Amino acid sequence: MNPKPNESEKGKMKKVLVTDHISEEGIKKLREFAEVDVELELSNEELKERIAGYDALVIRSGTKVTKEIIEAGSKDNGKGEGKLKVIGRAGVGVDNIDVETATEKGIMVVNAPAANTISAAEHTIAMLLGLSRKIPAANVSLKSGVWERKKHMGVEVNGKVLGIIGLGRVGSEVVKKAKGLGMRVVAYDPFISQDRAGELGITLSNFKEVLSLADFVSLHTPLTKETHHMVGAKEFELMKNGVRVINCARGGLIDERALKDAIKSGKVAGAALDVFEEEPPSSGERELLELEEVVVTPHLGASTEEAQKAAAINIAEEVINALMNKPVRNAINMIYVEEELMGAIKPYLVLADKLGRLSAQLIPKSSRTEQFEVSYEGEIGAGGAGTGIAGNTRLITVAMLKSFLSWFIDGVNYVNAETIAKKTGIKVTESKTESIENFSSLISITTTTQSEKKRTVAGTLFGKGDLRIVRLDGFRVDASPSGYMLICSFSDKPRVIGPVCTILGDGGINIAGMQVGREKAGGEAVMVLNVDGSVSGDIMEEIKGVENIFDVKLVRL
Ligand code: NAD
Ligand code: MLT
Repeated sequence: MNPKPNESEKGKMKKVLVTDHISEEGIKKLREFAEVDVELELSNEELKERIAGYDALVIRSGTKVTKEIIEAGSKDNGKGEGKLKVIGRAGVGVDNIDVETATEKGIMVVNAPAANTISAAEHTIAMLLGLSRKIPAANVSLKSGVWERKKHMGVEVNGKVLGIIGLGRVGSEVVKKAKGLGMRVVAYDPFISQDRAGELGITLSNFKEVLSLADFVSLHTPLTKETHHMVGAKEFELMKNGVRVINCARGGLIDERALKDAIKSGKVAGAALDVFEEEPPSSGERELLELEEVVVTPHLGASTEEAQKAAAINIAEEVINALMNKPVRNAINMIYVEEELMGAIKPYLVLADKLGRLSAQLIPKSSRTEQFEVSYEGEIGAGGAGTGIAGNTRLITVAMLKSFLSWFIDGVNYVNAETIAKKTGIKVTESKTESIENFSSLISITTTTQSEKKRTVAGTLFGKGDLRIVRLDGFRVDASPSGYMLICSFSDKPRVIGPVCTILGDGGINIAGMQVGREKAGGEAVMVLNVDGSVSGDIMEEIKGVENIFDVKLVRL
């Protein structure tokens, strides 16, 4: 149950735009939290005009969320209203959303993947039987007054081989139902283990083999660059003569022109299609649709009361969670962490933020960062046993990266930090080791810039949330990462620390804490001063002028 907005939040109610039909239950849920506009007839151009000012966009498969629409949504509309933060897809397929652009812009994309699995699988079976028994054609002919039995002779599915391409949620459900019909099932899915297939009582084979063994081929993969036209002329050639093909997944998986040719040549005995490369199908596709051997439905796989209600409620809850910065289970482009784990991870996220900001302020301003190496040592590096975070370090790494990049780039968040790092040519690595000295857990960032040696900052947590910076490059320190900090590197000689403190005192700047770390007596050393206010450029210059000081940096954490 999502909490209702409190009085202060009500003043700045979030705005949600819904552009495809979703069940009223979902709209009602969204309205408990946000101002909701439902606009079902917008053209792409109109949506581009309308989107600015909305915090969330909720769609099904009808709305194409293009780069232009996302860019328009991420702009300020000048009325102090929100920018687009989340795109909610009330269903599973996100091929109608430019997820790459959304990620770059820091917009979360979230779907409701499991809500319509059963409905889609049942529809597949309905299409399989409709196709094998020619029910749609018989229905039309009888209703037009023709009693014709010979023409509608069908085939049994019992004992036939069903080739499943894509053994995910829907594919697996179809397997269970098809086995109930007495079918023998073979499947191809390069990302699924034989163990999983074994649980379903079937064997996995390679793509070509499945195509060549099957009497019925049913597609259940997402539409991606890799799966686009995965079944075309070449694949039809590999199939048995008289094969029947079912597609209740995505138009675009089958090359429709090749399918039409294969049906016309008699190679394919029939096809059942719920989805099309263009929806509604273009006039060019009509010839395929009108073939007697083809059974069609207008993308009805998920069109049941049950699936629509579940998808609308799921997506409303996820969109609300996203807008409330709560964990979102089905975010496509963001790491999900269980709410119970979040409690244990939160203090590390605060430490991560400090370490990221500190690293950013220590490197030379104009030098390009080439590497961002994160290391987890001790309990946190050994799977987090004592930390309660169960090895979930990726979110902590992203938090460091986000804070680091935010120092230089606007609009970086948990969604786009990794993408922005990649785009700007920063190589991000994560290493873990159980061994450690002195601390139970240690997190460090080592940055490599084009013009400077590597810089390392490391921090730890004492107790439940006492944050400490414990290493700066090779030096051990014990500084609290808060407010303004002056970090001076110097040669460990007399008359350095005193003059620095005097300059600060003369400038009216109170020193709240001080730490010195050194390699060895007389060697290089570092001094970390927590000061109660900012330090002017003049004072910084004066400190830089103290003999044996190499470098001074003022950082704000
Ligand atoms: P899913 O992600 O659970 O399963 C997809 C499976 O495809 C995964 O197991 C994946 O490993 C596999 N896969 C990916 N690339 C592959 C490839 N090149 N070859 C073989 N397998 C590959 O998704 P799902 O919920 O089962 O949905 C399956 C499809 O059905 C999606 O395209 C979805 O959009 C569509 N769908 C359509 C309707 C409808 O209304 N017609 C309803 C629900 C789902
Ligand atoms: C989906 O991807 O969930 C399906 O296409 C169902 C739909 O949204 O109509």
